[in-house]
Amino acid sequence: MASRSVVKWAGGKTRLLEQLVARLPAGRFPTYAEPFCGGAAMFFALAAEERFDRALLADKNADLVALYLAIQTDVDPLIERLRKYSDTHLRKSEEKRREHFYKVRALSTAKMSNVERGARLVFLNKTCFNGLWRVNAAGLFNVPFGTYAKPRILNAEVLRSAHVALAKATIRVADFSDITKELVAGDVVYFDPPYVPLSKTASFTAYSSDAFGADAQARLADDLISLKERQVFAMLSNASTVSSRALYATRGFHVTTIRAKRSINSDRTKRGDVEELVVTNFPARESAHALPLHRAPDPRSSASTADLGATE
Ligand SMILES: C[S@@+](CC[C@H](N)C(=O)[O-])C[C@H]1O[C@@H](n2cnc3c(N)ncnc32)[C@H](O)[C@@H]1O
Repeated sequence: MASRSVVKWAGGKTRLLEQLVARLPAGRFPTYAEPFCGGAAMFFALAAEERFDRALLADKNADLVALYLAIQTDVDPLIERLRKYSDTHLRKSEEKRREHFYKVRALSTAKMSNVERGARLVFLNKTCFNGLWRVNAAGLFNVPFGTYAKPRILNAEVLRSAHVALAKATIRVADFSDITKELVAGDVVYFDPPYVPLSKTASFTAYSSDAFGADAQARLADDLISLKERQVFAMLSNASTVSSRALYATRGFHVTTIRAKRSINSDRTKRGDVEELVVTNFPARESAHALPLHRAPDPRSSASTADLGATE
């Protein structure tokens, strides 16, 4: 079974994978880096295609990194821990499940092993409202209980294939800028930062306790330039907004847009296509059709290759 994300993550890229992979350089990369890895959908897709010699995964979220480290070195104890979570939770009444959720949510992770910490994250991710991971200003997970009839808390098959994929990865808690410093000519990096908000009130940047504001977006755009000078291939996704277009339009980046259908939403205003920017510090591949993923194209998605910002 090909590996895939083990958690549902806000901003997850599963639906956009084919369009994104088509925009990466062709061939096999010496190092593939994903400094905002989140659910790491792209990493898992590339690992299944053996597209890199080694990978570097990082995220600011220490709970998430603990989970990946546990999958990498202790997958059996992690599976056993999740089996216990699942058995305990599913045999309870709904009221007791709710209590169980809030008890686990309140646990301090300070002295937990990676297995304990990772299992707690998966349990909360599978049982919380909407499967989101969001933290408050103190860095504490604060999503409420979600009422699911039979949440799948343990998926051993997905964890075991992630274990295989993560064998060649270095995984750490880091700011993106620490990762970009380590990359050398020929390496490939995909940045999927918290997005520029679509509106002033629509900001969702609280995956970890530090928000990702305009300064951080600008710092990241600067990093793309310095990576280009060092001949590192960098690709970045962002929301398509006036401010994000302005950030990349004048600096010699190659900017294209991709579209994906949103999942059905009960809120009418949130239905329809989402448009996202894909920014690279290298020219687009001649043929974006030689998709390395052995899957039929997703009929829900279509690509537009309008070059918005290329000045070269
Ligand atoms: C859009 S999500 C990534 C989604 C991911 N590509 C996926 O497929 O699920 C952004 C991630 O960036 C992380 N993050 C936020 N600020 C960061 C920073 N300064 N450095 C590194 N990671 C950061 C968040 O914790 C979050 O997991």
